[in-house]
Amino acid sequence: MILEVKEVHTFYGTSHILFGVSLSVDRGQIVCLLGRNGAGKTTTMRSIMGLTPAHSGTIQFKGEEMKGRPPHYIAQKGMGYVPDNRLIFPDLTVRQNLEIAIKVPKGYLGESWTVDRVYELFPLLKKLDKHLGGYLSGGEQQMLTVGRTLMGNPELILLDEPVEGLAPLVVRDLGEQILKLKKMGETILFSEQNIKFATTIAEKAYVIDKGKIRYEGSIEELKANDEVRKKYLMI
Ligand SMILES: Nc1ncnc2c1ncn2[C@@H]1O[C@H](COP(=O)(O)OP(=O)(O)OP(=O)(O)O)[C@@H](O)[C@H]1O
Ligand SMILES: [Mg+2]
Repeated sequence: MILEVKEVHTFYGTSHILFGVSLSVDRGQIVCLLGRNGAGKTTTMRSIMGLTPAHSGTIQFKGEEMKGRPPHYIAQKGMGYVPDNRLIFPDLTVRQNLEIAIKVPKGYLGESWTVDRVYELFPLLKKLDKHLGGYLSGGEQQMLTVGRTLMGNPELILLDEPVEGLAPLVVRDLGEQILKLKKMGETILFSEQNIKFATTIAEKAYVIDKGKIRYEGSIEELKANDEVRKKYLMI
C-alpha cells in the first residue's frame, strides 16, 4: 500500500467538511474518488497533500505519517498534485513550464521524466513547445499541468477532476494518456463527478458525499449498484 488515509477530519475555519474519510491506494493502481459538486473531493486531495491540513486522522504515505507535514515535505517524499485550477505560468512557454518543475525526490528509483518523455505522452504539447502557457486551450493546459507534475517524478499522482469542463474528444485523449501512465507503472488517485469517465480508467472507486465515504469497491460493482449511483452520483 502506497497511501493509507484513515479517519481524516478536515475543517475550513469552523466548518467541518470531512468526517472520517478513509481510503487506500496500492502501488500501480488507479483509484477514483467519485462525488458530486461540493461532496469533498478537493478537500480530500488537499488534506492528503497537506494544503488544507487534516485536523485528525492519519495519512500514511509509503509507511510514513504525513499528517502535520507541510506540502513541500510531502511533495519531496514523492507525492505529486495536479490541482483543479490548472495553475500554469501564462508568460512561460510550454517547455519552460515543464523545465521549471524538474525535481527528483530523494531515493527515487524510476526512470526520470524529461521534457521529451512528457512530449511522447502528450504529442500535442510537443507541437506547442514554444507557445506561451497563457494561450493554450483548456485541454492543452490540463495536459501541461499533468506533464509538469510528472517532471517532479512523483511516486503517487493526485489528480483533482482532470477532465472537468473539457470537450469530449479531449476527455477521451486524456483518458488514454492516463491509462498509458498506468501501463508505465504510475500510481494515480483522481477525483471525478462522472462515473462514465471513471469506469474507463479506474479499477477501484470510492464515493464521497457530504464529507463521508459512502461506498468503496471495484468500479464494476459500482456500475452495477444502482442505489449508490442514484443516491450519490450524477447519472
Ligand atoms: N475555502 C473554503 N472555505 C469554506 N468552505 C469551503 C471551502 N472550500 C470548500 N468548502 C466547502 O467544503 C465542501 C466540500 O468542498 P470541496 O471543494 O471539497 O468539494 P468537491 O467535491 O471538490 O466539489 P467540486 O465538484 O465543486 O470541485 C463544500 O460544501 C464547500 O462549500
Ligand atoms: Mg473540487
